[in-house]
Amino acid sequence: MAVRDIWESRTAFVLASIGSAIGLGNLWRFPYVCYKYGGGAFLVAYAICLLLAGIPLLMLEFSIGKRMNNASPGAFRGVSKKLEWFGWFAVGIGFIICTYYSGIMSYCINYFVYSFNLSWGNEPGEFFFGKVLSITDKPWQVGSFRWPLFIGVVVAWIWIIASIWKGTKTVGKVVWVTVLGPWALLILFVIRGVTLEGASEGLRYYLSPNWSLLWNINPDPGIPGAHQVWLAAISQVFFSLTVGFGVMIAYGSFIDDKTCIVKNAWIIGIADALTAIVGGFAVFGALGHKAFVDGVAVSEVVRSGPGLTFVTYPEIINGLPWPQLFGILFFVMLSLLAIDSAFSLVEAMSAAVKDKFGFTHTKANLTVAILGLAMGLPYIFGSGIHWLDIVDHFMNFFGLPLVVLGMCIIIGWYFKASRMRHFINSRSEGKIGIWWDIRIQLIIPAFILFMLGFEIYERIKAPYGDFGLRSQEFIFGWGVLLLVLVASVILSLLKGSKEYQSREYERITNDASDLC
Ligand code: TRP
Repeated sequence: MAVRDIWESRTAFVLASIGSAIGLGNLWRFPYVCYKYGGGAFLVAYAICLLLAGIPLLMLEFSIGKRMNNASPGAFRGVSKKLEWFGWFAVGIGFIICTYYSGIMSYCINYFVYSFNLSWGNEPGEFFFGKVLSITDKPWQVGSFRWPLFIGVVVAWIWIIASIWKGTKTVGKVVWVTVLGPWALLILFVIRGVTLEGASEGLRYYLSPNWSLLWNINPDPGIPGAHQVWLAAISQVFFSLTVGFGVMIAYGSFIDDKTCIVKNAWIIGIADALTAIVGGFAVFGALGHKAFVDGVAVSEVVRSGPGLTFVTYPEIINGLPWPQLFGILFFVMLSLLAIDSAFSLVEAMSAAVKDKFGFTHTKANLTVAILGLAMGLPYIFGSGIHWLDIVDHFMNFFGLPLVVLGMCIIIGWYFKASRMRHFINSRSEGKIGIWWDIRIQLIIPAFILFMLGFEIYERIKAPYGDFGLRSQEFIFGWGVLLLVLVASVILSLLKGSKEYQSREYERITNDASDLC
């Protein structure tokens, strides 16, 4: 039997999981979502969702991987042979995210190069949408193939594959740089951000809470309702912790028998949240400064999503002393943050392929990389960012909650939460109680059902996206989801290696082995 990859040290496991969790989600998504959904009030909702759902789900994913000793598909097959497709569905959703995440990494890599002579000039917005993206007016105008972006994506994939070349061995080393490096740089940016002139106005904006947002379902127009605030908080927690993608299942399957699941889930969850919250100080300090310089309100400076990173940051960098240096450091930091999130997913996917088909590590990695690169090509055209936006929304608002819901039902009710809890406790110094079962079986599923219902209602009212095109939503939203589903079912039906087919799942699902 092939020996399963094992982390070389517990620190390697913790750092790799933290690396997977912290990424672009912390530095642009978190501050923007926080700003949009009520600042301090959002922070409270975020903290509650982290404790109530995020950290318990991390424990769940680690324990599924460890208990079943397999990546996501094999792990769910261990619960029931009929459920293997579900494991593929989880990694499939992550894989789709990875295809465009590498596109965003390509922007970072390009911006790293642009930083040397501040190519974005005085009009970073025009530069980004015009020169870099050559964005088309409408989604169905495909536009031109952007060679620099393509080269960036190829570099990103080579970098991803190099980082996981020897599995946990290389990952365990790479993450020292990709986690600790950005932290050091982030501290530098926080100090710089909060000491800029006008920073305090930005920080006030970031932190001042408006408590009524947490329960007022019917606020004045233009102000988010409480349901939206909570939805935004929980989806940010899932996305940021990378739960619901099968990544933490794969990482859990590589841990040794002595690693404490409970304690490490706490460390990883808190580290991820802190990175986002601390990062917010740098972002909002700098935004306050920009508002001060331009003589406008902070609310007028902020632009959402990719705009914030690739338009507002260059603007901010322009206004700093030694702009080239800060530009270079900033985009190095972003690339490092992104790389370990991206490779965690590729590792989860190739571990799944390895487990099932018995591929060698190299063959599995190359297969995943080539497929990922090919499927990322649509985002390299002028219309790419229109499509990216929709795919991102559907993966995060439908795919991800569906996976988490399924996981809670399968493990919570079918496998039984209490059994998994006993297993977790047998592997942990800190113990969890029945409260954990209640969260997995009831609270999280109820929350997600509410969220899905709300989102479906929104989509019936109007198609998603700036252009509100049903045709676009149909293909890049529902179409991609369906594609992942069909691919998952096909992959689960394909015959795996002898070892995979013949594993004795009865034995693993036997209660006696919980008491090890
Ligand atoms: N956790 C990552 C972040 O905060 C994002 C992420 C979640 C991700 N799932 C993923 C990235 C799957 C790539 C693939 O940025």
